[in-house]
Amino acid sequence: MSKKIKFFKEALKNYKTSGTVVPSSRFLANEILKPVNFKNAKVIVELGPGNGAITKYILKKLQPSTMLVCFEINDTFYNELLQINNPQLKVLKASAEDVKEELNKLGFDQADYIISSLPLTILPSNLSENILRASYNILKNKGYFMQFQYSLSYYKKLKKIFGENISLSFEPLNFPPAFVYKCTKK
Ligand SMILES: C[S@@+](CC[C@H](N)C(=O)[O-])C[C@H]1O[C@@H](n2cnc3c(N)ncnc32)[C@H](O)[C@@H]1O
Repeated sequence: MSKKIKFFKEALKNYKTSGTVVPSSRFLANEILKPVNFKNAKVIVELGPGNGAITKYILKKLQPSTMLVCFEINDTFYNELLQINNPQLKVLKASAEDVKEELNKLGFDQADYIISSLPLTILPSNLSENILRASYNILKNKGYFMQFQYSLSYYKKLKKIFGENISLSFEPLNFPPAFVYKCTKK
């Protein structure tokens, strides 16, 4: 069975936590990774990697001294990600809400970049707010929190955390087309 069909089946079964049934396109992966300076990053975090549609592009660009830490709650996706054989990749079966505690356990006190494809608009609002606050807290000063969404409805909530330090772009070559938020901690 192809990776896309496997993703479709699993995402459909768990629509309330996946928020889509099609993995992100390479165009969207490119857009969300644009602000990442791979040369100076020590720790990159990915929230909601699914079956690795964006993860594989991050891994391709990773410098030898950088770690990628992924947070995925879905068993099937988690097991699929474990098949990726790369010593710089740490896959955790943990909720994004616990990003700070989990990174601390690994010996990291901050993240340079957080790349999120979590379906924030459909997660319970206390959970999505906790995720944003925890992400903000663990992000290094001047670090970026990158998030894509299929609508602009979450803009206000991101503003509550990141204030005016948000810029927006749009990627039409994805199904569905997506808005990409670049949020900076200042
Ligand atoms: C829209 S899919 C994105 C998959 C992949 N990154 C892509 O772009 O194709 C969202 C993913 O977030 C995961 N997810 C949902 N809630 C989560 C949470 N609280 N912590 C970690 N992952 C979560 C889902 O299991 C799903 O794999």
